[in-house]
Amino acid sequence: MLRIGLLAGAVIFAVVYGGVGYANEVQVQVQAPKYQFNKKTIIRGGIFFAQHCLTCHSMKYIRYNRLAADLGLDKKFIKRNFMTPAGAKYLRGMITAMPPKLAAKWFGVTPPDLTLVARYRGVDWIYTYLRSFYWDPGKSTGWNNHLFPGVAMPNVLFSYTGTIDGKGHVLKKATYSPQEYDRITTDLTAWMRYTSDPSIIVRKKIAPYVIGFLLIFTLFAYLMKRAYWRDVH
Ligand code: HEC
Repeated sequence: MLRIGLLAGAVIFAVVYGGVGYANEVQVQVQAPKYQFNKKTIIRGGIFFAQHCLTCHSMKYIRYNRLAADLGLDKKFIKRNFMTPAGAKYLRGMITAMPPKLAAKWFGVTPPDLTLVARYRGVDWIYTYLRSFYWDPGKSTGWNNHLFPGVAMPNVLFSYTGTIDGKGHVLKKATYSPQEYDRITTDLTAWMRYTSDPSIIVRKKIAPYVIGFLLIFTLFAYLMKRAYWRDVH
């Protein structure tokens, strides 16, 4: 009897508390970006990242010279558009000039390295996160995020998002069009998808040759098999 009582208690507890947790989490639906993943979108996202995000976030596992090899960019272009932090070195990773201790003091948490963020969060999460900021006067930065409640990052894209409160009311209109906003968030997503797995570009390039080789090889293997078995039959 006691056992059944305990079991029933556990089930009720799980339903009630599980239900509460669920209700909190489904406020925002994670959306998939409709983006093109190619060198053009990656480069555009990377330049935007270097100019707006690298002030706080590092991408220390991506060296600047890697961009030349993967994306076909020349050193001059990389220096001018990507190497924004003071003291950036061509053969070193993309490291923010913001001292981590100072950042932790300002934001309460050090802005994380984003090289691999697309691996552990996924592209849909990143895209939705960048589009879920809202104005919250109760926060020290003035910004909160539906997908990441209590987030320490301010909405650096506010001129694209406009200022919107938690209920969706527009307090200040965006300077840019919704199309521009979508382009910038999808480009940033493409860039982070690339940094989390840079060999994807080379893999995609050689894939047709590999498949072609396998098809031709299969044909030869079949012809050889026929030649061998001809004498047996
Ligand atoms: C003013 C500093 C600052 C700038 C500029 C900034 N961020 Fe952030 N960002 C943060 C902080 C701080 C966090 C940590 C949030 C937390 O843990 O509450 C964060 C978190 C994130 C995360 C979530 C990482 C994770 O897995 O927790 C992503 C993604 C992100 N930022 C992307 C960007 C992008 C893209 C830009 C440029 C458009 C950018 N950030 C610009 C401070 C900044």
